[in-house]
Amino acid sequence: MVKIQALSYVVAQSTDVSRWRQFGEQVLGTQTADAPDAGLYLKMDERQFRLAVVKGGEDRYLVSGWEVADAAAFKSAVETLQQAGVKLQDGDAALCKARCVKALVKFADPAGNQHELGWGYDGGSVPFKSPVGVRSFKTGKYGVGHTVLPALPFDETLKFYREVLGFGLSDVFNFQPAPDAPVIRLYFLHAASGRHHSVALAEMPSPSGCVHIMVEVEDQAEVDRAELRREKNGAKLMATLGQHENDKMTSFYLLTPGNFALEYGWGGISVDPATWQTTYTKQVSIWGHDFSVGFS
Ligand SMILES: [Fe+2]
Repeated sequence: MVKIQALSYVVAQSTDVSRWRQFGEQVLGTQTADAPDAGLYLKMDERQFRLAVVKGGEDRYLVSGWEVADAAAFKSAVETLQQAGVKLQDGDAALCKARCVKALVKFADPAGNQHELGWGYDGGSVPFKSPVGVRSFKTGKYGVGHTVLPALPFDETLKFYREVLGFGLSDVFNFQPAPDAPVIRLYFLHAASGRHHSVALAEMPSPSGCVHIMVEVEDQAEVDRAELRREKNGAKLMATLGQHENDKMTSFYLLTPGNFALEYGWGGISVDPATWQTTYTKQVSIWGHDFSVGFS
């Protein structure tokens, strides 16, 4: 099996990169820098970027970028993916340079989500200094955060993540939006570094390519300040402040310029992949998280 450490980065596509620059600096509190081919990097820690924006014809989510520990883990991952019959494309020198890795392969999962899997970050190390005073994002070995991806067909996609990509199952939530509505399965999966979930699979379509991504800060004050910046800058609220039952994250949701939501939170738990027993939660949130505001 592949042994993924963490969600290293995500890539969005944009028709107007300047919107992401403003959103990154003024709302999220990231630094920004020009990226190759008129793209943009959003910097959240000492790395060059954790969110890359590339120019294109749609405003959407494009790629989930995964990292493995070293060259040996990368070689083993490539062999595993090949044995599973996954069509791989080698990242060329320009792509590896743009993503700041020594090597990567590209592939799609059974639901058509695009992935890059690489090793060997080599984009330098420069301290993070937020333009709006965010002290730090929780990244490091835990990666950028998590991503929630559309997963249809669900069973085949879940099998791929568990049996080929090697994710552990942290939590299962069978979401029933209304008493007579069909159940939507949401499965939360952890990688080796143990963030409660680095990815969740959602049994639903998502036109923008992603249900949401999550970034994490240090404490409630940082989340409150982000909510004030969201309001001041006119970014759309997608869910009010609340706390999730499964990973205990306290967060709110807002709409990104990529037409997918972003969860801005703090206090998420970690799991020990060696001993964690899958939980079965009964509700999205312990309190708060009114998602109806996103439909207005
Ligand atoms: Fe989330």
